[in-house]
Amino acid sequence: MRPGYPGTGLLRVTNVQKIFASSRGTYNALDGVSLTVKDGEFLCLLGPSGCGKSTLLNIIAGFEPITSGSVTSDEAPITGPGRERVMFFQDAGSALFPWLTVEENVRFGLRARKVRKAQWAAIIERYLVMVGLDAHRAKFPAELSGGMRQRLQIARALAVEPKMLLMDEPFAALDALTRRRMHAVLLDIWQRTGKTIVFVTHDIAEAISLADRIGVMSIGPRARITRLIDITLPRPRDVSDGRIAHLFKEIEDLLAPDLERSEQQMQKRNLPLGVAQQ
Ligand SMILES: Nc1ncnc2c1ncn2[C@@H]1O[C@H](COP(=O)(O)OP(=O)(O)OP(=O)(O)O)[C@@H](O)[C@H]1O
Ligand SMILES: [Mg+2]
Repeated sequence: MRPGYPGTGLLRVTNVQKIFASSRGTYNALDGVSLTVKDGEFLCLLGPSGCGKSTLLNIIAGFEPITSGSVTSDEAPITGPGRERVMFFQDAGSALFPWLTVEENVRFGLRARKVRKAQWAAIIERYLVMVGLDAHRAKFPAELSGGMRQRLQIARALAVEPKMLLMDEPFAALDALTRRRMHAVLLDIWQRTGKTIVFVTHDIAEAISLADRIGVMSIGPRARITRLIDITLPRPRDVSDGRIAHLFKEIEDLLAPDLERSEQQMQKRNLPLGVAQQ
């Protein structure tokens, strides 16, 4: 356990139900989802495609209303986006402003969040150094690599001093090597800043290498968190470590039936029009 990990419940999700309604009917995406995320914790939400990971993260971000249950941050109900929770997107390209330089992208967030102007230069410096982009501050997003763009997104998110980073498959589009580097960058920043991170992934290895705890989700309808797995192994976690391989297999077995169902559901969705769907 890291120092500065008081173990208080920063975020509480209690018995949450989410029903999507459209002209074609209703879909009960989440039902009975409960979760407490501790201050400073790195929690990964893991589950097959379509199980409701993004829906739950959007609820925590305050972007998506719930049908019933409750979601609180520091005991206050979450009713919309808040400064203490920053959402981090998979596609850095669309999250960043292409007409602003690296430095200006970070500054924009500070202006938008009404941080005092006298503090801007020091804050920008601190976070650009932290993500290793201080020498690239005059470049535009198009002049950066995929990993650098994600690092810029991290700097911009951290600059507004949120308590919590909400990350939805942030590194899924990166190549394997860059992704591993980004894991190291993120863990380093997490350890230095003590932020709480809720990180969505469908990659078991990614969840194991990052998380303090993994919340395994079942496939919908009525998806829920079926298991919470504590990972106390020291970081960096070496895939050749037998305990990691054992954990990987355990989670893989847990997900196997749902993965099969998820694939069947995808196949059904790809059926040509006119073919009856169950
Ligand atoms: N706005 C919406 N209206 C109706 N149904 C929705 C809506 N958003 C999501 N859903 C449904 O809710 C379920 C969960 O979707 P969600 O995007 O949360 O899954 P996910 O676990 O993030 O999947 P992936 O790993 O593919 O990103 C899916 O069946 C999806 O079709
Ligand atoms: Mg998703």
